[in-house]
Amino acid sequence: MTEAMTDLSGKRVLLGVTGGIAAYKAAELVRGLRKAGADVRVVMTSGATRFITPLTLQALSGWPVRQDLFDPAHEAAMGHIELARWADLVLVAPATADFMARLAAGMADDLLTTLCIATETRVFLAPAMNQGMWRNPATRDNAAVLGRRGIGLWGPAEGDQACGETGPGRMLEADELVLRTARVLKEGTLGGVRVLLTAGPTREAIDPVRYITNRSSGKMGFALAKAFRNQGAHVELVSGPVDLSPPAGVELVSVEQAVDMESAVMERVVGCDIFVACAAVADYRPVKVAHHKIKKDSESMSIELTRNPDILAGVTALRDRPFCVGFAAETQHPEEYGERKRISKGVDMIAANLVGGDQGGFERDENALTVLWEGGCTFLPMSDKGRLAEALVQQIVERYEANSIEDPRSPPR
Ligand code: PMT
Repeated sequence: MTEAMTDLSGKRVLLGVTGGIAAYKAAELVRGLRKAGADVRVVMTSGATRFITPLTLQALSGWPVRQDLFDPAHEAAMGHIELARWADLVLVAPATADFMARLAAGMADDLLTTLCIATETRVFLAPAMNQGMWRNPATRDNAAVLGRRGIGLWGPAEGDQACGETGPGRMLEADELVLRTARVLKEGTLGGVRVLLTAGPTREAIDPVRYITNRSSGKMGFALAKAFRNQGAHVELVSGPVDLSPPAGVELVSVEQAVDMESAVMERVVGCDIFVACAAVADYRPVKVAHHKIKKDSESMSIELTRNPDILAGVTALRDRPFCVGFAAETQHPEEYGERKRISKGVDMIAANLVGGDQGGFERDENALTVLWEGGCTFLPMSDKGRLAEALVQQIVERYEANSIEDPRSPPR
């Protein structure tokens, strides 16, 4: 671990310690964070104090350890809401099954859960527990709920456990946690990752004044671009005609027709790590585009249409293809039809949404998504597209990182 990789100078880390045997590693973690230059404040649950004393962590962090939500002396010095706002990052290590359950349930029954709920900064948990507890469906569900809310899980690792068993449940080593903290605070979770997105509708010209299009506003795609940027990714956004400004720092390429969108994507996709196809690309375009405005001479007219290229299928067919995420716009059975599309398009993940009707994802500020990948599925409930995009990016990051680990050609970040 080089010094540059773990430079945390000027960064403020709130470390939560909960009651498991791995709490003894918190001492090493505080030392590592301090050594990297971070200002560290420690909050312990009452269970944690049974495994390691507050005095130890006070001595190592240089600050009194907070334990009580209703401590008048501490509240007068720095109230809990102030402390929640103070942090650049909240790390709970170790995070027990009980703590995860309470956080997933939205409880604020002690200082640490209250801080995790009150903070607007990113929260990461380093789970540590017996392997059976980690594998238990209740814990798996709680982990999934927390992930959907944007809480990051670091670990657990597999190996020998304090209870004598072997399996997943070991807390990541302090060095690894310091490294990950530095990476998130320096670069964001996706620092150095190139993301290419499509968004909005396409317009297929009939004549110089008329076109075929759809109801896509671009809101979902632009929200995704912002959420990826917030995670430190380099983002290029190829968009059809929309009435939106690109998020700061996002490179916008404006196009009209599907064929132009395809060219823009193919020019940029080489070397990109993640491709997300959120655009509502017109499936057909007129075979002939009239040079002049078509006159209404006859009572009826027909327009011959031809299939547009499938941009997403073109990207998934590439030899060195990026991690591919598609969308599926359905008017019914999003899970079933989305799964079919995931397989037929050969994508790593698909986000299916309902379109048309009152719940439709087009144009509105809110949406809901059923996210599917091989062997997994999660539902992201109706919320504004900004929050939804953050939750989807979180899911993508998890699958992308897991995929990188499974595929030795692309090393994990
Ligand atoms: O823009 P908003 O108003 O915010 O609305 C968001 C949205 C509803 C448009 C968005 O959430 C969404 O569902 N986008 C995909 C719309 C769509 O075209 O879905 P599809 O099921 O027809 O296509 C499947 C996938 O193939 C999509 O990833 C699509 O981008 C891609 N595709 C489709 C056709 C084509 N010729 N090229 C493609 O790349």
